[in-house]
Amino acid sequence: MNAIEIRNLRRVYRATIGTLRRHIREVVALDGISLEVRPGELFGLLGPNGAGKTTTVKILTTLLIPTGGQASILGFDVVGQADRVRPRIGFIFGGERGLYWRLSACDNLRYFADLYHMDPDRSRRRIDELLELVGLLGREDEKVEGYSRGMRQRLHVARALLHDPEVLFLDEPTMGLDPVGARELRQVIRDLKGQGKTIFLTTHYMFEADALCDRIAVINHGRIVALDTPERLKGYVRDLRVIELEVFGIAPPVIDQVRALPTVDAVSVEDFEQKQILLVQSPQGSELIPEILRLLDTARVGKVVVREPTLEDAYVRLVGGDRGLAQVD
Ligand SMILES: Nc1ncnc2c1ncn2[C@@H]1O[C@H](COP(=O)(O)OP(=O)(O)OP(=O)(O)O)[C@@H](O)[C@H]1O
Ligand SMILES: [Mg+2]
Repeated sequence: MNAIEIRNLRRVYRATIGTLRRHIREVVALDGISLEVRPGELFGLLGPNGAGKTTTVKILTTLLIPTGGQASILGFDVVGQADRVRPRIGFIFGGERGLYWRLSACDNLRYFADLYHMDPDRSRRRIDELLELVGLLGREDEKVEGYSRGMRQRLHVARALLHDPEVLFLDEPTMGLDPVGARELRQVIRDLKGQGKTIFLTTHYMFEADALCDRIAVINHGRIVALDTPERLKGYVRDLRVIELEVFGIAPPVIDQVRALPTVDAVSVEDFEQKQILLVQSPQGSELIPEILRLLDTARVGKVVVREPTLEDAYVRLVGGDRGLAQVD
């Protein structure tokens, strides 16, 4: 049996806009996605802002009803059997509050254990195990208000694991953490996989998905545009070269002209204060440069480099230049 199964899942949000002439605008957040996650798998859902990641996690954790399609966790339907799903899952949403800052880590966990009516003997042992797992042992009696963001996020993970769920959902768990905090949390996530947990993680860091996940689904505008192992995803761009051109002011029609060149596969633009970087993906490398320069106003071109593609380029190719990405580490 699969740990998670999603069949043609849809979610449409209806937002009322306007004050005098009110009308309803529909946002298709999930446009029929399907995927399966095996028990013990660490699965990543990767996509730019607004792609539908949080919506997916909310439906899977029974917090939101889908507009269409089905989803089940360990064989239980997230809508019709939500009561059977809830005890088997744990979740954390990025930037979430929900810890008592004036209490210690230990007291926070005891409080939530009481709330879940856990047997006191069992919860005491469980809390010790969890503090060890998330690397807070030795600091467990200090107040949470004195913790770093990374420590707090690890405490959130411990809280989500109190009832020993089989499946764990992490929505952008490293968001807002510094590189050290993020690295420590990633280690906790690996250890959890080592314990046999199924983990469903969302991120918009390609690099993080690559470092952690067994398989990655790339989602864009509510649709899955690729689903594969990180290695195979990298294979999508192995045949390509990336030409990076530093430009000082480029008109959108010119970008379209570059995009329309016969051997060009994808074009994206990164904006900086004074300049832009035009990234052109093509199976051709330096041979293509004269053709590109012919389209640009050469007086406004700075450095030009040809390089090997990265996994991030694979992502750019998949989401069509919608570069909602940042690089960490
Ligand atoms: N409550 C809501 N009402 C209306 N539209 C919404 C609501 N929640 C999300 N949306 C829209 O649904 C789409 C998907 O949003 P979602 O939060 O799932 O994206 P995401 O991939 O988690 O993005 P991010 O990386 O920014 O967290 C977006 O277009 C968003 O604006
Ligand atoms: Mg989100």
